[in-house]
Amino acid sequence: MAAGKDLQENRSHILTEIATTQDIQIPQDPLERVIGQEEAVSLARVAAIQRRNLLLVGPPGVGKSMIARALALHLPPPTQELRVVHNPENPERPTVEIKRGEDAETERSTKEYAGGEIIDPAEAPITVAERLGYRCRSCGTYSSPREIYCPKCQKSKMLGTFAGQGNPFSDIFGNLFEITMGQGLGTDRVTTTRKRFDKEEVVVYERFGDNIRVLDQKALEKRRAIEKQSPHKVIVPYRRNNFVMVAGSSETELLGDVRHDPYGGHSQLGTQPYERVIPGAVHEAHEGVLYIDELPHLGELQRYILTAMQDKVFPIEGHNPQSAGAAVRVDSVPCDFILVASCNIQDLQQIISPLRSRIVGSGYEVLLETTMKDTEENRDRIAQFVAQEIQKDGKIPHATVEALNELIREASRRAKAIDGKDDALTLRLRELGGVVRAAGDSAVMEGSRFIEERHIRQALKRARPVEEQIRDKYGYFYKAVNDELTTAQRHARSEYWYENEVSQEGNKPGYG
Ligand SMILES: Nc1ncnc2c1ncn2[C@@H]1O[C@H](COP(=O)(O)OP(=O)(O)O)[C@@H](O)[C@H]1O
Ligand SMILES: [Mg+2]
Repeated sequence: MAAGKDLQENRSHILTEIATTQDIQIPQDPLERVIGQEEAVSLARVAAIQRRNLLLVGPPGVGKSMIARALALHLPPPTQELRVVHNPENPERPTVEIKRGEDAETERSTKEYAGGEIIDPAEAPITVAERLGYRCRSCGTYSSPREIYCPKCQKSKMLGTFAGQGNPFSDIFGNLFEITMGQGLGTDRVTTTRKRFDKEEVVVYERFGDNIRVLDQKALEKRRAIEKQSPHKVIVPYRRNNFVMVAGSSETELLGDVRHDPYGGHSQLGTQPYERVIPGAVHEAHEGVLYIDELPHLGELQRYILTAMQDKVFPIEGHNPQSAGAAVRVDSVPCDFILVASCNIQDLQQIISPLRSRIVGSGYEVLLETTMKDTEENRDRIAQFVAQEIQKDGKIPHATVEALNELIREASRRAKAIDGKDDALTLRLRELGGVVRAAGDSAVMEGSRFIEERHIRQALKRARPVEEQIRDKYGYFYKAVNDELTTAQRHARSEYWYENEVSQEGNKPGYG
């Protein structure tokens, strides 16, 4: 017997060794958490090391966004901070300053020395604590402003904050991942007034890690004096998330903007132009990953991506011609990003060809898999996937081996039903994750310690798309649609029409 074969036979498999998903070790490397997409994952590794672009082509829910996020986690952290600096000669043409991150930090700590009192968020006025993101508006619990969702009641702490889709690496990177372009965690600074010794004075509350810094009039004056030395605004901070996702097609989101100021640049009343400059996703992704979900949806804006990639700088200017911001422009703002874009097969033709050749010229395009072979190793991968989904969800119990086997059978059924593959397992994992969550919910409602086989079965019943439910109830799906239509028409039209139509329909062969 060959030694190799021997080894293989002795190799242990997750499913034969564990009792529940609790026993499964989830890989630390975020790219190893991506299942069944070996080619795309290995190209993502290359892209991270060599700073190449990546076009991920495939249907929804097979791991495109997940790969893009994991790639970003493989990049070294950013080294630069980008600032726009006041230009006294021509305030409407602020300049850019690229600061080494470490220098920026040193400078800041000097400035922080300018004073202010550090207080516990609970000591701040309630509205201040809420606006700064420390206090939950729903239940009043205090937590770090880095957490978008209240750890107690799970509601979003920020009104109108983008509640991103589940983040597969939240354990690695915290909720920061959830912050997409232009949607910070509320505000990081609140200005109010307070009465002291019968006099109104301005107080500024600022985020300061898990605490709040209070700046009174005196501290503010001191700080202003320091700021006068180099009036600037940090548009891309040194310590930042190097994964920036664009999902819409808003020009200002992508390229930045200059806010309107009703007083224009009036030196006393207005806000200086440099203070109104807002970076775009292309700038925020500097040194990191710019992930464009469904690239073709950008339409015309694709041209700007191309320019940004060629020049590695892109000006920021006001986009609304009616606004005072339109007169302002900052040239040469760095935007040296790795482009990762997703696209489904049908839309491939709508990527403008110079952009596509730019991506391929310095990067790779890869078609994602929708199934994998039904082998013991791959069944283990589904088990690993389930463990990951359970960990990520955080609200459902672990699953037993029997439950896993039932899910694997479903993965095989789906490979056959959707992709026409025998002896295969589906990789349309977002939807399979839905089954895991629904099964978990059943287990929770039942008070069960684990997700059992029966919960998976129940979930499969419940998780069926509504078309399928209709098909079961009414027979053939389109027959149902037709029946409904006829009912509606019965109400809408005259009896005469109804009589005629029904008699005609009755003659049609093969209906239903
Ligand atoms: N290949 C995969 N490996 C592991 N989990 C996956 C995979 N594909 C999808 N998932 C799960 O489904 C979720 C959604 O997948 P996503 O990456 O957003 O798909 P896509 O971007 O292709 O639409 C992921 O966060 C993850 O939980
Ligand atoms: Mg996606």
